[in-house]
Amino acid sequence: MELYKDKTADADARAEDLLSRMSIEEKAAQMLQVSYNTLSPEDYEKYQRLGVGAFLHVLGSDADKIREKASKTRLKIPPIFGIDAIHGHALRNGATVFPSQLAMSCSFDRDLIRGVGRVTAREVCADGLDWTFSPVLCIARDLRWGRVDETFGEDPYLCGELGRSITEGYEEDGYIISCAKHYIAYGEATGGRDAYDSPVTERKIREVFLPPFEKAVRAGCSSVMTAYGSVDASPLTANRRILREILKDELGFRGFVVTDWENVRSLVTNQHFTDNLCGATKAAVEAGNDMSMNTHEFYECLLSLVKNKKIHTSLIDDAVRRILRVKFRLGLFDGKERPDKKVIGCAEHKKINLETARESIVLLKNNGVLPLGEDVKTIAVTGPNADDIRAQYGDWTFFSHPEPKDDAQPQGEYHTVLDGVREVFKDRRVIYEKGCDIFGAENDIKKAVKAAKKADAVICVVGDSTAQNGEYRDRADITLSGFQLELIKKLRETGRKLIAVLVNCKPLCISFLKDNCDAVIETFNGGDFGGLAAAELIAGKYNPSGKLSVSFPELSAQTPCYYNSYDGWHGGRYVDTKGGNTFDFGDGLSYTKYVYSNLRLSQNVISVDGFTDVSVDVTNAGERDGKETVMMFVNDVISSVLTPRMELKNFKKIFIKSGDTKTVTFRLSADELSIVTPSLEYVVEKGDFEIMVGGNTKEYLKDILTVK
Ligand code: BGC
Repeated sequence: MELYKDKTADADARAEDLLSRMSIEEKAAQMLQVSYNTLSPEDYEKYQRLGVGAFLHVLGSDADKIREKASKTRLKIPPIFGIDAIHGHALRNGATVFPSQLAMSCSFDRDLIRGVGRVTAREVCADGLDWTFSPVLCIARDLRWGRVDETFGEDPYLCGELGRSITEGYEEDGYIISCAKHYIAYGEATGGRDAYDSPVTERKIREVFLPPFEKAVRAGCSSVMTAYGSVDASPLTANRRILREILKDELGFRGFVVTDWENVRSLVTNQHFTDNLCGATKAAVEAGNDMSMNTHEFYECLLSLVKNKKIHTSLIDDAVRRILRVKFRLGLFDGKERPDKKVIGCAEHKKINLETARESIVLLKNNGVLPLGEDVKTIAVTGPNADDIRAQYGDWTFFSHPEPKDDAQPQGEYHTVLDGVREVFKDRRVIYEKGCDIFGAENDIKKAVKAAKKADAVICVVGDSTAQNGEYRDRADITLSGFQLELIKKLRETGRKLIAVLVNCKPLCISFLKDNCDAVIETFNGGDFGGLAAAELIAGKYNPSGKLSVSFPELSAQTPCYYNSYDGWHGGRYVDTKGGNTFDFGDGLSYTKYVYSNLRLSQNVISVDGFTDVSVDVTNAGERDGKETVMMFVNDVISSVLTPRMELKNFKKIFIKSGDTKTVTFRLSADELSIVTPSLEYVVEKGDFEIMVGGNTKEYLKDILTVK
C-alpha cells in the first residue's frame, strides 16, 4: 500500500526543490535527532539555531515552542518529533495505555490492532508529535531477553501480520509515521542478553527475521530503526549489506533509517569498530543510516567528512531527501492540522482499549471453576500485582520514560485487578490482602491465608515487575520471584477455589500453577483496563478468545522453546523436565467448545506458481457464542534445508454463534512454501506439504498438498 498517494509526487518534487537550496550545514542538521529532555540549555539553543531535523521525547506544549523557533531558521524546515508510543501514547500521562504488544498479539486480531494504531496516531498527533518508534518487529524466542513484552510474540508470520496491521493503523490517516524496529534480529542475541551479538547468518535472517520488516515496508512504514547489536559479529549500524542493500535496494524502502539511541557512538565505545566518532559517522552513513539518534558529534563529523572529501555528498543528499520527503508527506511544512487534544484518553478510545484488553487475555486453565457462580459470596483478592497499576502497564509508560517517575499518579481511568473485581462483583464481599511483594524477604502470607479462609474463592495475582524487564534487564531465572510461589502454595492448602491471574511482561515458569490452581489466566501487561477485563472474564461477562503468541517453558533453562523449531535427532527433550512446555503457542480456552471438520483443499496438487484454497468448517458446539482463531500450519515434508516441524501460514479470528458452523477458507499460494537456500535463493521445492488446520499447535486436521 502506498500511503498518502495523492501527496507523494508532490512531496518528492518539493523535497527535491528544497534539497537543491540547502547548504551542507543545513543538510547535516536534518540528519541529527536530539533527545529533548537530556539537552543542556546551551545545547538546546545550539541545536535550535542549527535547525536540527528531529527531536525525541518532547511532551506537552514544548513541541510548539520548538516548532516556532524552527520557523525562524533560514529555510524554516520543521523538525519531526518522535516518541515511544509503543502501546498507546503512554509516555504522556492521561493518554490511552493499551495492553503491551505481547498482550495484544494474543488477540490474533488484525483489525483490532489496526484500530490500536489509529487511536495511538490520533493521540500522538493531537499532542503535537509526529512519529512513533513502533512497531517492534523483533521475534521473542529467547525468553530471558528483557524486551519480550515489546514484541508480537515468537512467530514470524504473526509478528509480520500484526506489524503490518498496526503500521497501517498508525499511518493511514496521515497523522503520524511509524518506525519498524529494531532492524534486525535484535531479540536473538546470545543468551537473551540485550543488545549483544546475534549469531545468525543472512540465510537465517531471511527465513525468520526479515519477513515482518518486509511486510511493514510494503504496508507503507515511513521509518526503520537500526538495532543496537550486531549480527554474526558485524555491527548493524555499520552493516551496509543489511541496511542499504537489503532494506533500501532490495525491498525498495523509500522512508528513512534512524539509528537507535547513540548507535553511532557505540561503534566506538561498545563495539570497538573504530576508534573515532568521525569514522563511526562515515561508516553509519555509508551503511545506510539517514538519521543519527542522539550522538551529537555526528553533526560536526559529517561536516568535517565533507570538508575533507571523505564521504560522497550523494549519500548525504539521499538521506536528507528521504527525511524531507516524509516531512512533506506528513504535512509538516503546511501547518499540519492536528486533532483536538480532547481526543487524548477520550471515551471512544477507552472503549477500544477495553475491547483490546478483553481480546488479549488468555484463559490457560479452567477446571470448571469459571465463571464464578452465585455460590461464591466472598472473594479474597491477593498477590503482589493485584493492585499495582505500574506492573499492569509494563514498560514504556510515563512511570519509566523519558525518565523514571516512580511516584507518578495516573491521570487517566484505569482498573487494577482489585478495582475490576470490586466493580464487577459489586454484589459480593471482596476482601484484599496483598500477601507478598514481587521481591523481598518480608511477606504477609499469613494474612492472605486468613483472608482466603474467610472467602469462597481466591484470586491471586502474581507475575513480575518492570524492574525485571526492559532494556538491560534480562533474566537468567524466569520463575516467580520472591515469595509468590509460597503464597500460591499456602493458598492452595486452604482448599478454596483458587484462580491465578498473571500480570507479567513475559512467559514465566508456572507449571505449579497449572497443576494446582483451578484456573489460570494470563493477562501479560493489560494496560488501563487489563484488571477490569480479567474480572469480567472471571465473572463470565464475556467469552475469552485470546491465545498465546509465545510458549511457556517448564524451567528457565528450556528457553528458547518456540513451537516452530526444527526436528532434532533425539526429540529435543531434557532428562530433568517433564518434557515439552507448560503452555504452547496457540493455547487458550474459551467458555464454549469448537469442533473442526471437513478440511478440504480446492486442489491437492499445484504447480510451483499455483495456489490452493484450504477450507475447514468450525462448529461452535457449546452453549455460548464466541470467537475462535483458526490457524493454518504447514510442514514441508522433505526439504533441502531443515524446515520447522510446523509453521503458521495464516490465521483468522471469527465469531460463531452457539450451535452455528462457519467455513473458513485460506488461500495458500506455492510461493508461501518457499525455503531460503544456503545460497540465499528463495525456492519452492517440489514435493509434499502437510497442511494442518486447527485452533492450536496440538489439535488439528491434516491433509497433504503436493507441489509438482
Ligand atoms: C530503545 C528504542 C527506543 C529509543 C528511543 C532506545 O533505548 O532501544 O526502542 O525507541 O531508545 O527512546
